[in-house]
Amino acid sequence: MATNRTFTILKPDSIEKGYIGVILEKITSSGFRIVAMKMTYLTRQGTRKFYKMHKDRPFFGELVEYMTRGPIIAVILEKDNAVEDFRALIGATNPEEAAEGTIRKAYATSIGENAIHGSDSDENAEIEGEFHFSGREQF
Ligand code: CMP
Repeated sequence: MATNRTFTILKPDSIEKGYIGVILEKITSSGFRIVAMKMTYLTRQGTRKFYKMHKDRPFFGELVEYMTRGPIIAVILEKDNAVEDFRALIGATNPEEAAEGTIRKAYATSIGENAIHGSDSDENAEIEGEFHFSGREQF
């Protein structure tokens, strides 16, 4: 089903490397409208909660360290078919496998430090947007 909204995070490596402007430009010039956006920090507790589906994976500790080491930018985006189109725009989780022209191909460092998040379903887009913009996020 085509939907209107998705949720993204520009992860700490994107901010550290000065890629905020180029990534946001790529997103908006691809037809996404920014509905809400903020630069913030994830707490360790918040990160564990946000990524709870990965809690038993061997990289979980690394993921928590990475996501809490600096600021992030949380964004709600709008476009027809937003979830699917945004996943296509960011590319595969592993930048080595990401297609030419995708954000991860251009700006990600590794499978762990992969620059950007994109919701994987309509349901998760709503949950993740709420998590970051409800005013009670992370707690
Ligand atoms: P994302 O797919 O947005 O959400 C889960 C994150 O876990 C993923 O991006 C990476 O940042 C991280 N991740 C996934 N697989 C690995 C891996 N094999 N090693 C390290 N980190 C990973």
